[in-house]
Amino acid sequence: MGNILEFQDISAGYGRIQILNDLSFTVKEGQVFGVIGPNGSGKTTMFNALLGLIKPSSGRILFDSIDITRTPSNVRCKMGLGRTFQVPKPFENMSLYENVLVAAVHGASNNERFGRELALGILKQTGLYEKRELTAGKLTLLDRKRLEIARALGTAPKLLLLDEVAAGLTDAEVKDIMKLVADLKAAGHSIIWIEHIIETMIGSTDALMCMAEGKCIMVGDPQEVISSEEVQRLYLGVDDNE
Ligand SMILES: Nc1ncnc2c1ncn2[C@@H]1O[C@H](COP(=O)(O)OP(=O)(O)OP(=O)(O)O)[C@@H](O)[C@H]1O
Ligand SMILES: [Mg+2]
Repeated sequence: MGNILEFQDISAGYGRIQILNDLSFTVKEGQVFGVIGPNGSGKTTMFNALLGLIKPSSGRILFDSIDITRTPSNVRCKMGLGRTFQVPKPFENMSLYENVLVAAVHGASNNERFGRELALGILKQTGLYEKRELTAGKLTLLDRKRLEIARALGTAPKLLLLDEVAAGLTDAEVKDIMKLVADLKAAGHSIIWIEHIIETMIGSTDALMCMAEGKCIMVGDPQEVISSEEVQRLYLGVDDNE
């Protein structure tokens, strides 16, 4: 399998504040690629750079072997990048079906008939079909997270970007999300999943990157990354002298 994504020495930030510092990593096609790192280490900022919401001051981003470093954000979406937001942002007064339909019709510029079929398929895939007429604002947190994933799927992404979709859920609900991610991988999506819950990262990812201060500290086999001394010290707050 080829590489779906390559970050090559990306530096980027907000205004003059640089957050990502020569960040490099590679995601293979078909992989679930996990990302961990302390609060403020630049994980969500990496998604913002990948989606073109902030412009790198140096480096290159290759998506599916195409250089997208200067490609506008809306074009990147149509090329096959779909994201969830760390804080779910559904249209609160619209039904679940309408929420997914907006993404399916506008995000991927499908015609309405195709968009409707796509939206219904996604609602089934994400376990929301029975609730499709409910108003988004009335959902439980689990269903809001599911809807966030469904909306991202509406743009028919080749690479799906999940930002803490399991945060705040009960253990049983976290397992639900892990099952959904496994189903999406089986359906052929490549996925980058940012999450603080270690069990999800060990149980669901093919490769794991730990970030700190806008850099890749370690990347590789999830179990090895979690057990490494540097990651334990940095991320899990384990002291050398304990
Ligand atoms: N819009 C913004 N303008 C200025 N600084 C920002 C902005 N968004 C984030 N930052 C800063 O960038 C740094 C990285 O933030 P980011 O949200 O990428 O971290 P994160 O790794 O996703 O953290 P968390 O685990 O808490 O979600 C932080 O210091 C944050 O305060
Ligand atoms: Mg974040």
